[in-house]
Amino acid sequence: MATAIEGSVALVTGGNRGIGEGFVRTLLAAGAAKVYVGSRDPAAAQHLVDESGGKAVALRLDVADPAQIAEAARIATDVTILVNNAGAFLNQRLIGAETMDAARQEMEVNYFGLLGMCRAFAPALKANGGGAIVNVLSSGGLVAVPVMGGYSPSKFAARAATTSIRAELAKQGTTVSALIVGSVDTRMAAHVAGAKERPEDIARVGLSAIKRGTTEVDTDRMAVEVRAQKALDPKAQERALARMLDVETISTGR
Ligand SMILES: NC(=O)c1ccc[n+]([C@@H]2O[C@H](COP(=O)([O-])OP(=O)(O)OC[C@H]3O[C@@H](n4cnc5c(N)ncnc54)[C@H](OP(=O)(O)O)[C@@H]3O)[C@@H](O)[C@H]2O)c1
Repeated sequence: MATAIEGSVALVTGGNRGIGEGFVRTLLAAGAAKVYVGSRDPAAAQHLVDESGGKAVALRLDVADPAQIAEAARIATDVTILVNNAGAFLNQRLIGAETMDAARQEMEVNYFGLLGMCRAFAPALKANGGGAIVNVLSSGGLVAVPVMGGYSPSKFAARAATTSIRAELAKQGTTVSALIVGSVDTRMAAHVAGAKERPEDIARVGLSAIKRGTTEVDTDRMAVEVRAQKALDPKAQERALARMLDVETISTGR
């Protein structure tokens, strides 16, 4: 099963900046007819509306708010590609944080937000011929990263959900792809030193997954390395990740 980008109608959550913005631009450059730019503040998506000549459409969407998800699904009934990109990283520890608020918020956005979007848009995707869902996940959802606190567990949950949703939507012809992302040069990774990928390059891998109906793909070198290390020596990997709790600056090591 595969979905064409040319002539498609896409919705990108958190489309106003970072990897989401890269998706919006890459989808339009590849011939998408319309891209809804999901944004908590529609004004933050205005630059994309302007530069696209109206093909990008700002859509108010906080994925942690079920009422806003329902309203988005009521408006965007023509969607054929859903990119669940919105993500929260609060940079707190699981035990060291004073409260569980950050861990709850990360779960709310990265897991329940993604699940809520899949549930709300499954009927429109079916009505429009099947289409594709792309979930922007993380290598922090393949291996537990202690410095990432509640972010890592939320991405584990999102990856498991992605597998189950793929099975549930197979009969209606919707492909569901997991993008395992390593380290990208966005605000979320501002605290990370070293070489980072460009958002547009991650989006290009995402478009390829949509076109081919790929189930899961590592989008960049770090993601590939994390998966390889996990297979090769998981204990050494766990020890190395634990040591990151004691360093002052996190680095991609390149
Ligand atoms: N950067 C990396 O190294 C990296 C690595 C692995 C995975 N990822 C994943 O890639 C995705 C995009 O992250 P990024 O790197 O582009 O980070 P970013 O630059 O911080 O952008 C995050 C985006 O998500 C939006 N967002 C946050 N909470 C939201 C909510 N409740 N509802 C709707 N939108 C919300 C933000 O909106 P506002 O502008 O309103 O804040 C922003 O548009 C995330 O899922 C992240 O986990 C990133």
